[in-house]
Amino acid sequence: MLKIGIIGCGKIAQVRHIPEYLSNEHAQIIAFHDRTRERAEKLATKHGGKVYQSYHELLEDREIDAVSVCVANHLHARVTIDALQAGKHVLCEKPMATTIEDCEAMVVTAKTAEKKLVVGHNQLLTPAHKRAKALIDQGLIGEILTFRTTFGHGGPENWSIDPGPGTWFFDKEAAAMGAIGDLGVHKIYLIQHLTGQRITEVTAKLTTLNKKGSSGQPILLDDNALCIFGMESGIVGTMMASWTYYGAEDNSTILYGTKGIMRIYDHPQYAIAVTLKSGESIYYDLESIQTNEEQSKSGVIDTFIESILEDKETELSGEKALDSMRAVFASIESAQTNKTTKVV
Ligand SMILES: NC(=O)c1ccc[n+]([C@@H]2O[C@H](COP(=O)([O-])OP(=O)(O)OC[C@H]3O[C@@H](n4cnc5c(N)ncnc54)[C@H](O)[C@@H]3O)[C@@H](O)[C@H]2O)c1
Repeated sequence: MLKIGIIGCGKIAQVRHIPEYLSNEHAQIIAFHDRTRERAEKLATKHGGKVYQSYHELLEDREIDAVSVCVANHLHARVTIDALQAGKHVLCEKPMATTIEDCEAMVVTAKTAEKKLVVGHNQLLTPAHKRAKALIDQGLIGEILTFRTTFGHGGPENWSIDPGPGTWFFDKEAAAMGAIGDLGVHKIYLIQHLTGQRITEVTAKLTTLNKKGSSGQPILLDDNALCIFGMESGIVGTMMASWTYYGAEDNSTILYGTKGIMRIYDHPQYAIAVTLKSGESIYYDLESIQTNEEQSKSGVIDTFIESILEDKETELSGEKALDSMRAVFASIESAQTNKTTKVV
């Protein structure tokens, strides 16, 4: 049985990490920490386990094998590195960290410590994305020529456990990135996975169209990010990440291949809808993706536990997350310089 500590007891810990550890027969949560101590205490009372005043104290508990890092973005690297050095396996939430140097340091530290580092890229594990990958690899739509991928919703200020315009998601220091790091990174990860190709260059526009902080002034982060990606083989596609899609969430990806078109989470009824060049249509009725309002089991925690128990790397490894973060940082640079930027 792996003994787990939860660092950061906010929304994602409560709706995903904790329930999914509780339903995993190889895991037992034994420790909680949050800067709002009562939040950790409430969870410990409900589920059992000890509350620690600081994450450092939690990491000193030798009984703990692994931790979930579910705090604000700017703390991901520091907490993850400390945890790995304390001999814990780490499941860190996305975006991996706020600088490329920190992302690299996390990967190196995991290697040196010989501990698993997994990053919470749940999109890869949804039934439709898994099936889409298999169908693409079988050649259903031929060679992918271009794509359009989108992740947009009404913003994180109603999602956070501390909601409102004062949310840390709107604080440049704590979040570091807006929609590009919060939502764009999911689609960057996904599109590299589905196409089997790395993003090699980006032309991006990052804007702040509508979100205001508690001062009433526009936030200092992007609430919309539009990117044109050039891929390894020379194909191009677009990604839109938005915090201002008021109404229904858009989590769609459309892939245009030499033999047909695949629409994922785009059709009102079917998770995948394929129209072939021949005119034939094929529909796949699969479970819908998690939305802010409706959470289903993500599979991220099971993947983390399995990677520890079977000592194997997974599709959610630190290295893969680092690769996606390179495209995130290149997008930010492209927007700042108004130039197409190589992903190094
Ligand atoms: N994989 C996904 O789809 C997904 C979805 C939502 C959030 N996330 C990520 O999860 C992380 C947490 O987001 P959330 O939605 O739970 O936010 P949240 O605002 O609901 O909760 C954050 C929690 O962290 C605590 N915290 C902040 N700073 C802390 C510190 N210094 N020490 C201890 N605790 C601290 C806060 O008190 C709060 O309880 C973020 O990095 C976010 O990007 C990932």
